Amino acid sequence: MRIEKLSGPLKTAVLASSLGLVGAIAIIDCSADDPAMTSAAGGGPADTCSPSPTSPPPIDAPAGDAQKPPAPLDPISASAQKMIDEGRHTFRYDTFGDEAFWGDTLKLHRAVEGSAKGGVGGGVSPKTALAVGLKVDVDALPASAIEAAKQGTLDLDSVDTTLTLLQLDAVVGVKGFFDSSKNLTSMGIQCALCHSTVDDSFAPGIGHRRDGWANRDLNVGAIVNLSPDLSAVAALLGVDEATVRTVLTGWGPGKFNAQLFLDRKAVGPDATGPAGAAAVIPPAFGLAGVNLATFTGFGSATYWNAFVANLEMHGKGTFIDSRLGDAAQFPVAADAGFSSVRSSPDLITAKLPALQVYQLAIPAPAPPAGTFDAAAAARGKTAFEGPAKCSSCHVAPLFTEPGWNMHTGAEIGIDDFQANRSPDKRYRTTPLKGLFSHTKGGFYHDGRFPTLGAVVEHYDVAQSLSLSGAQKSDLVEYLKSL
Ligand code: HEC
Ligand code: HEC
Repeated sequence: MRIEKLSGPLKTAVLASSLGLVGAIAIIDCSADDPAMTSAAGGGPADTCSPSPTSPPPIDAPAGDAQKPPAPLDPISASAQKMIDEGRHTFRYDTFGDEAFWGDTLKLHRAVEGSAKGGVGGGVSPKTALAVGLKVDVDALPASAIEAAKQGTLDLDSVDTTLTLLQLDAVVGVKGFFDSSKNLTSMGIQCALCHSTVDDSFAPGIGHRRDGWANRDLNVGAIVNLSPDLSAVAALLGVDEATVRTVLTGWGPGKFNAQLFLDRKAVGPDATGPAGAAAVIPPAFGLAGVNLATFTGFGSATYWNAFVANLEMHGKGTFIDSRLGDAAQFPVAADAGFSSVRSSPDLITAKLPALQVYQLAIPAPAPPAGTFDAAAAARGKTAFEGPAKCSSCHVAPLFTEPGWNMHTGAEIGIDDFQANRSPDKRYRTTPLKGLFSHTKGGFYHDGRFPTLGAVVEHYDVAQSLSLSGAQKSDLVEYLKSL
């Protein structure tokens, strides 16, 4: 597959992106000594620069004032801006040292480079990478690569192109480590892998980053399965490698079983198989004001950030949660000592404050115009807050409870399988903004409801609401409008 010579709207988009690139280079003043850009471990390009802590002068400033320094931001705003910049960098580019796991232990980089370059197997072409849901950040591509794509000479079947993209830090959420001869020596992952997509403005899977959007195309199981050596995972779980591979294959796109590494539960409720025990990848936006995070409310967003960076990504940091020492509920975690993890050096803890600020600053995206019927949505809002009783739990504008936002399976008419895999044995009321951005893969923690209509139908039956057909479709339009 190659990107053919482009014409029409796509060509415009390509030109716009290259212009954007040139524009970005021209207008961003990246001072080399900016600590936000140089301190983060895990590397990555200086994607964003801390804007100077001053406001630009007003456009209509009299010529005589041009030399006058603008008023500085107050210290709190300046600090918040700095944390957002640092947090964004961490979210996008930090591996927290997890290349020791994904590269050195799982040897994923050897599968990427392929046997022709001293690795194993056929290697991973950009075409294969895109097929398993990986995304390419067009803003990381130099003008020459954009030009090659325009001319149809960027070879998407070639492993070399993948290696070039990795050198450019253009593969969203994946970091390649190279030696001085440009051999791929290791590989790590970043938060953006699962919680970012791109806007497809250049081509499908290639565009500008959308931080916080759930990547429901990403086949995490298939990617991990590329690893030539899963013995470490097999040993952690106390099963053989073939079993691990079967479980990973069962997840499918947009899903990940984070609790597998706590409790070894690989099969969902009612024997739905591995897909049922995995959760859909949720968005990581619209979380400001939301008390407990994750589908089952393990803790706050910063709790979970520390959890994931240490226990799932296998970065090097510190994580403490005595609840995971409960061997009855969390046998794998208790055995592995996950209730108290301490690495030296700690590459995670110092990054949590800015990462939290950034996460909470990511707004839920607004649905594109024309994707819902506004009049029906307005009627749906009335139903949501009235006869359908949705707002007894989903309280606007958070759309979760201000307070303790947790419920048993029975309260929402479902089984307790996933709830019981969490410390509070409950489900967290999901914040509902930006639902339009993750319709692929279904709704509820395991994606069991393929559409919003199915969700509404479920509540109608489970909570004996006796909604009319019109009320149900209005509710769906309202959900699409959030
Ligand atoms: C391999 C994919 C993957 C990676 C990498 C990943 N996450 Fe997640 N994330 C998930 C899944 C799946 C869940 C849902 C887990 C659950 O609820 O049981 C989740 C949940 C979350 C939530 C809770 C969202 C909500 O609605 O409450 C936050 C916040 C989050 N992740 C942030 C991060 C951050 C920050 C990083 C990097 C340190 C990260 N994630 C790395 C897959 C991933
Ligand atoms: C008793 C509290 C409660 C009530 C009432 C309630 N919900 Fe929910 N809602 C939840 C919980 C808890 C979840 C998470 C379920 C899961 O992930 O398995 C949820 C999930 C959802 C989701 C899925 C979001 C996603 O991203 O997957 C939608 C949509 C939703 N609710 C809409 C509604 C509508 C519409 C109503 C009214 C008809 C309603 N809810 C009533 C608690 C409630």
